[in-house]
Amino acid sequence: MATFSESMAPVLLLCLALCLTGTWAVDRSNFKTCDQSAFCKRQRALKAGESPYRALLETMELTNTKLTLQLINDKNKVRLLLELYRLQGNMTRVKINELKPLKPRFEVPDVLIKEPSTEPMSLLSQDENGVVLSLGVESQRVILSVRPFRLDIMEGREVLMSLNSRGLLAFEHLRIRKDTFTYKVTSTVASVWDNVKRVFSSSQTDGEAEKKDADPASQAEDEEEKDEDGMWEETFKTFADSKPNGPTAISLDFSLPGVEHVYGIPEHADSARLKTTDNGDPYRLHNMDVYKYELYNPMALYGSVPLIVAHSAQRTSGIFWLNAAETWVDISSNTAGKTVFGKMLDYVQGSSEIPQTDVRWISESGVIDAFILLGPRPQDVFAQYAALTGTQAFPPIFALGYHQCRWNYNDQEDVQAVDAGFDEHDIPYDFIWLDIEHADGKRYFTWDPHKFGMPKDMLQGLKDKKRKLVAIVDPHIKVDSNYKLYEEIRSRNLYVKTKDGGGDYDGWCWPGSSAYPDFTQPEMRTLWASKFAYDQYEGSEDNLYVWNDMNEPSVFNGPEITMIKDAKHGEWEHRDVHNLYGLYVQMATAEGLIQRSGGTERPFVLGRSFFAGTQRYGAIWTGDNIAEWDHLKISLPMCLSLSVAGIHFCGADIGGFFNAPSTELLVRWYQTGCYMPFFRAHAHMDTPRREPWLHGAENTALIRDIVRQRYTLLPFWYQVFYHSHTTGEPIMRMLWTEYPQESATFAIDDEFLIGRDLLVHPVTEQGATGVTAYLPGKDEIWYDFFTYKKHNGGQNLYIPVTMSSIPVFQRGGSIIPKKLRVRRSSTCMEHDPYTLYVAADLKNTAEGELYIDDGHTFKYEKKEFIHRKLSLANNVLSSVNLVPDANFSTLSWIERIVIVGTSKPSKVTLKTANGLERQLEFDFDATVSMLTLRKPGMNAGDDWTVTLQ
Ligand code: NOJ
Repeated sequence: MATFSESMAPVLLLCLALCLTGTWAVDRSNFKTCDQSAFCKRQRALKAGESPYRALLETMELTNTKLTLQLINDKNKVRLLLELYRLQGNMTRVKINELKPLKPRFEVPDVLIKEPSTEPMSLLSQDENGVVLSLGVESQRVILSVRPFRLDIMEGREVLMSLNSRGLLAFEHLRIRKDTFTYKVTSTVASVWDNVKRVFSSSQTDGEAEKKDADPASQAEDEEEKDEDGMWEETFKTFADSKPNGPTAISLDFSLPGVEHVYGIPEHADSARLKTTDNGDPYRLHNMDVYKYELYNPMALYGSVPLIVAHSAQRTSGIFWLNAAETWVDISSNTAGKTVFGKMLDYVQGSSEIPQTDVRWISESGVIDAFILLGPRPQDVFAQYAALTGTQAFPPIFALGYHQCRWNYNDQEDVQAVDAGFDEHDIPYDFIWLDIEHADGKRYFTWDPHKFGMPKDMLQGLKDKKRKLVAIVDPHIKVDSNYKLYEEIRSRNLYVKTKDGGGDYDGWCWPGSSAYPDFTQPEMRTLWASKFAYDQYEGSEDNLYVWNDMNEPSVFNGPEITMIKDAKHGEWEHRDVHNLYGLYVQMATAEGLIQRSGGTERPFVLGRSFFAGTQRYGAIWTGDNIAEWDHLKISLPMCLSLSVAGIHFCGADIGGFFNAPSTELLVRWYQTGCYMPFFRAHAHMDTPRREPWLHGAENTALIRDIVRQRYTLLPFWYQVFYHSHTTGEPIMRMLWTEYPQESATFAIDDEFLIGRDLLVHPVTEQGATGVTAYLPGKDEIWYDFFTYKKHNGGQNLYIPVTMSSIPVFQRGGSIIPKKLRVRRSSTCMEHDPYTLYVAADLKNTAEGELYIDDGHTFKYEKKEFIHRKLSLANNVLSSVNLVPDANFSTLSWIERIVIVGTSKPSKVTLKTANGLERQLEFDFDATVSMLTLRKPGMNAGDDWTVTLQ
């Protein structure tokens, strides 16, 4: 354990700085650049075109589903083992590890939902230069070249992707430290070394040459490798990272011919379309607590998903780099910086080359485990990634309502008053949130006895109004022998350990000196999950849900505000598992909420840190933003990047966490957030209160209107979430995902689609009097969602705005269900009737879905739902069952149908499943071709047709 003065010094300095400046400001110097990260610097210094790797064809083994082959590094003679698999669903997996590592290298567990199923591959041809394998489908082949080693994935004559084509494959093999071995041989080290040699020689079976190649002693003789600074220890600021395993970095380059646009690898505060990194740092993936983050740069933030998605008008593909260590991603392109004119000129002059993007991954440890998702359509890539890592958890419907948060609601009276404020101002909400001060001295799972002395009463008060509460439960545990949870984890030896493996790692966080549960251990996760049981979490009720913050993990006195990399998780170093920590915390919490209900209720957990697979456990928000217009703007690309990478339940702190927003900014932020999947306002404790009614009557009315819009659209949101849960498709979508051939959409990240049918272009400029939105699809028509005015697709449209405007459009050809009777909370609206908004396309057709279940349990998994297809064709609007054996009934009925873009009928006839027929009353507004059918009255779960004559 660190001494008081060691652990406290940086914290005191930080506090001093805060007192002096009076502000929390991101200090870039707290975070490493590539040059300050020894392995990144080393790997980046490698020159393209000098690959030392050669494939040893004589070692190739090909079974029906797997190819293995050794690669040799001709410089140091270290051998690697390549494994190649063809996976079901048009994916290829490439794994590379040391053939005989000194000890096992970390392979990421718990991210893939299952061992991916393989498909047969066969050998097409082979000579001394390489091998051609058939991938079985669509004339896809892999060409494996021997020297330098390289893989090309082809379809027909087209190269889809090449690996190591730039020769930047690197694999720093585990080794014995030379100075330790050569100069500082103590008797203990010598005997360890003897053992290593014994193990190695007894495991050699393939002849002397290989023995020499794989024997670390002979490697030490052969290799030209010199120990460099930062290989065996590295110091950043005052933090010394001892590196007992020495250099362990890995790297591989991928070339993508025909590609000019790549997306994904969240989390960065940058445009959704990734930039080239030749003239700066690579994009960094290393989960850290970067409050007040800077915009438009590749610095790492709270979470990471190592998935990059490449798109061109012809094809979408992806690379999923399954590695949880600190990772940097370099992107370069042969067309970067060229204007469209420049590219055309090249073309006219015949000097244009095929555009190409190169992506290079560099990770600090672990193995290479790359999944190549071959699309070809965007939806295929989303489905492929979901087949590997799972889909977005299907949240309870109330989680899609409005969330009111603040650091902090001070006490129970405060909670009650805020709750009453919503009723008084007729604004619906579902959740009020409690931040860290609610717990007794930041001992999570407890309540401050003075301020929250009767939590059950508070929860009951909310429950009476069909509302809920979220309490924060952070993963750092106050070091306090009187704190039961601290003691229990300690006595079970489940905290992360210091580098020597002896003591519990001690870091500084909100409660002061804190221990960090080792969530990588299943036993710890089970223990954590059990703490959410009602008899364990005293004062909790079934309307209490959970927020996991600081789960990077945040360590105030750690390097880069996180855990030192040589801390230990069992046998593994924190270095190996770092980016997984946040995922595990949210996983264990979600599991706890499920268990407390006996497995019946869907959980809701918000997390800040994330990794691939986090989508299975809840929602994510974009952390500590600032009340500035640019931060409002960046919330779109940040959530769009998360969406491309499978994490769909995303939102940003409405209003901005730090500082006080102007009312204009606040209103615009509500308008934007209302159309994003996770809809929560939050604010720092030092900011003035900003509940929706504190900004004057006019602004209160605006905010009321926005929040109510969200509630009217909950049936649509719910259906889009269900769709995402079952298919892996994003909820909040970049336009190109639906219009993949329309190059005008490729860089757009200031507007987005919700599902396929709603297009949103929020107003994010101060003082805006209009916005220009791009309406995609030459053959589409788009209806203004509020005025029903019709616009053609395939054009930029200028839309004048006032403070009450949110430019939203419904796609012609879609049907959107709404509930128009807005009440106190989503649960109060459960049995309310639906209004269907039918927007006809040019052929006077439309399609949509209606999904209804109990809103909160897992019974939907047993098909206890209503899932209907709604369609308009040949002047008949119908509702038919999509899932024949689905079994659920609802009290909700259809109270109105609005059809826009149609002509006036003379008669409208409703026919229900029991054969009854009746004429419906209707209105027709000729100015916008809008037909309104009043009170058709059928049950929302029934079959029916409405014929327009
Ligand atoms: C940091 C979080 O990002 C913020 O949302 C929260 O209010 C504070 N921690 C206090 O818990």
